[in-house]
Amino acid sequence: MMFKLRLLFAVMNVIYLPLEWIVLLIYKKPRCSLTPITKSLFTLSATTIAKKIREKEITSYEVVNEYIERIKEVNSSLNAVVDNRFENAIIEAKKCDEQLRSGKLDLEKLKKEKPLYGVPCTMKESIGVKGCSHTGCTLSRKGVKATDDAVVVKLLRDAGAILLCITNTPEMCICFETTNLVYGHTKNPYDARYSAGGSSGGEGALLGAGASLIGFGSDLGGSIRVPALYNGVFGHKPTSGIVSNTGHYPLSDDKCFQSLLCLGPLARYAEDLSLVMRVITSQCGCNLRLDVPVDVNELKVYYLQSLDRSLGVLPVTAEIKNCVQQAANHFMKYGVSVEKLPIKLPAEICEIALTKIISMENPVSLLNADNTKDPLYELGKGLLGLSENMKETCIMMLAFKHNLFFSKSDISKYAKQGESIRQKLVNLLGENGVFIYPTFHRSAVLPKFSICEIMNHVYTYLFNTFGFPATHVPMGLNRDGLPIGVQVIAAPYQDRLCLAVAKELETAFGGWIPPSPLAIKNN
Ligand SMILES: *[C@@H]1O[C@H](CO)[C@@H](O)[C@H](O)[C@H]1NC(C)=O
Repeated sequence: MMFKLRLLFAVMNVIYLPLEWIVLLIYKKPRCSLTPITKSLFTLSATTIAKKIREKEITSYEVVNEYIERIKEVNSSLNAVVDNRFENAIIEAKKCDEQLRSGKLDLEKLKKEKPLYGVPCTMKESIGVKGCSHTGCTLSRKGVKATDDAVVVKLLRDAGAILLCITNTPEMCICFETTNLVYGHTKNPYDARYSAGGSSGGEGALLGAGASLIGFGSDLGGSIRVPALYNGVFGHKPTSGIVSNTGHYPLSDDKCFQSLLCLGPLARYAEDLSLVMRVITSQCGCNLRLDVPVDVNELKVYYLQSLDRSLGVLPVTAEIKNCVQQAANHFMKYGVSVEKLPIKLPAEICEIALTKIISMENPVSLLNADNTKDPLYELGKGLLGLSENMKETCIMMLAFKHNLFFSKSDISKYAKQGESIRQKLVNLLGENGVFIYPTFHRSAVLPKFSICEIMNHVYTYLFNTFGFPATHVPMGLNRDGLPIGVQVIAAPYQDRLCLAVAKELETAFGGWIPPSPLAIKNN
């Protein structure tokens, strides 16, 4: 009975909007406490920095050291970092430089085999980095360290990347807001009152603040794209199944879970998404053609500014609609076909998008390892401040326990409807179609209200359910100084189209804009 759920969200929306307005009236925007960026190094992409390191124009030590200093500088205001390996990173960087200086390395080979040689990178806490915090940010696992590198971490390291630190997430990565009882709350670098998003919120905040070059996250319903939006950076959710999930916590061997969860990069510069995607899919055995340039003149562009009116889902704001329109219009100058999506996405799209997550036979236990806790009882304890779990986690577990009020016949009806829409989209988009769509209906929300927004995140989780690749592209700041942007979607295995369109829109609309204006001195 999805109607009950929709009604609940409709009521929450009515209460929540005036409440937000009151909160914003009481808490005035704090002055940006982030030190402005003073070094031109921070305006270079990872791709450029990798080249400069190889050509000995700059040392890996210099880059790693500057990024460590920047992380320390911003982390005290953001609380984005939960663990670090700064000392080891410095040792690794010096080793890279030494090997380069020795002249024994073949630079062409290095570029091909280790394209991230000496380049710093940061990692979401849920992705194992040997010896570093790997708790799922849940109290019952406090102190747990990864005993091994996740597969993606191995691939990044084999490509020469240097890991600097581990970043914050919500408890068990199950919320679009980064707060937990182990490491606390991560703030938005553009306005500390707002959420950094989630679940890759620590990554998003560090990148937005210009304190990470390549970030790495995971996305089960929007957890890469939502923090990318809130913090004004790029984030790519790959095609389902092309990047290994091994070494992620939480994890389930359930088929639905495995296909929903995608690990992928976040970055300040669009070209870096492609660089990282090449590295982490090098062994996937599918023909992604990431090296083959995309001819923009051959693209077919589809767009939709919003979902149809739908009970419990808030309408898309004018500024986000405008981003979609501008992004679509941009491609008209190439004379390519730009049109509204000719496939109807019905009002039940929320239900359709949720069918996969509730079809899990073996869902992850979110409250404790042996699944013995009753979520309703824990929620009650949580309201009194007596639970070891976040209230948000209890609510999500409660929802899963009751299959979100879906009956068995609902699930099969919506799954069938979903499959038909998915197939139509696959056929329409083909090998050169992209779909420009909102990532979310608005810019960042206030942290306390993220639970009211769950239904509104249908724009991202629909494409986890469908398994399509999707990239968030930043398109400037709104009147309040918060980042806005769009989502670019393509058919499965056409990740290269999303990445090419991201790059095109970055050139046209400016990409990442630092929270405080650059103050670069001539040095
Ligand atoms: C980041 O900042 C928070 C809050 O100031 C602090 O608790 C944490 O230890 C810092 N992390 C690192 C690795 O410096």
